[in-house]
Amino acid sequence: MNLLQYITAEFTAIKVDSPEAEARLVIEYLYGNDVFLDTADADLSKFQSVLERRKKREPIQYILGRAFFFNSEFIVNPDVLIPRPETEIMVEKLIDFLPCNGVMADIGCGSGCIGISVALERPDVRVYSFDISHAALQTARLNAQNLNVSNIEFIESDLLANCPSDIKIDAVGANLPYVPYDDYYTAQSEVREYEPQLALTADDNGLAIIIRCIAELPHFMKKGGAAFFEIDPSQDVRLKEHLSIKGWQDAEIIKDYTGRSRFVKAVWQI
Ligand SMILES: C[S@@+](CC[C@H](N)C(=O)[O-])C[C@H]1O[C@@H](n2cnc3c(N)ncnc32)[C@H](O)[C@@H]1O
Repeated sequence: MNLLQYITAEFTAIKVDSPEAEARLVIEYLYGNDVFLDTADADLSKFQSVLERRKKREPIQYILGRAFFFNSEFIVNPDVLIPRPETEIMVEKLIDFLPCNGVMADIGCGSGCIGISVALERPDVRVYSFDISHAALQTARLNAQNLNVSNIEFIESDLLANCPSDIKIDAVGANLPYVPYDDYYTAQSEVREYEPQLALTADDNGLAIIIRCIAELPHFMKKGGAAFFEIDPSQDVRLKEHLSIKGWQDAEIIKDYTGRSRFVKAVWQI
């Protein structure tokens, strides 16, 4: 039996969601990506320690200490949310929207995945990445350093409280906490027991922090600048209406790969 078959079967037995995908990550990390290596020739003790941790529902990305996001590998640990594939859609939108030499704010940067990915694709753009968590920012800075990104600055801040007053923003990418408490308490153990709750939940059916962010943004927005917020699908209409009431224009809902409302974009025209 080869490694891919063996590890996939072990993960299937403990009911992980994507056994083969996780098996491939383990093989890449521990066995030099040799998926066809015969188990008789492999040191399986390395995998056993991963399996023991995975049995306790620890996410594979925390066990391996890394996650892939938008063409790059990011260091992850329990101080930061594991980047989700759907968030890559926001990165694409930001890359397309930002004008030449534009300024972007990544609010609630976590591992730094959004801001760093944009900064890598758009070296002309200046990115300011904010997070309230000192520990998360340490990981984000390490990721920027490992990926040789220099057009990015990290700022410890409750939303935009510490944003330099002279900054004028062309585009905001905000993946702030938005999970309603009821959903959080019924989420998978992988999320509830291992990911930082500070990164996930918010009051007011998940919208409290995003709504506070919308109140702070006008002072820093350039006319014609846009904000992209990642949301829970249940929040789409309410957030779109809220943005319109607060003077934002062309509010639009953007879907994720599964066809569910996942982002709201709006433009600041004042
Ligand atoms: C959903 S995670 C997103 C992390 C990352 N942007 C990503 O997409 O993987 C939300 C992040 O917002 C941060 N956060 C929570 N409340 C905040 C606040 N009031 N001001 C700034 N950041 C905050 C958390 O520490 C966490 O890193």
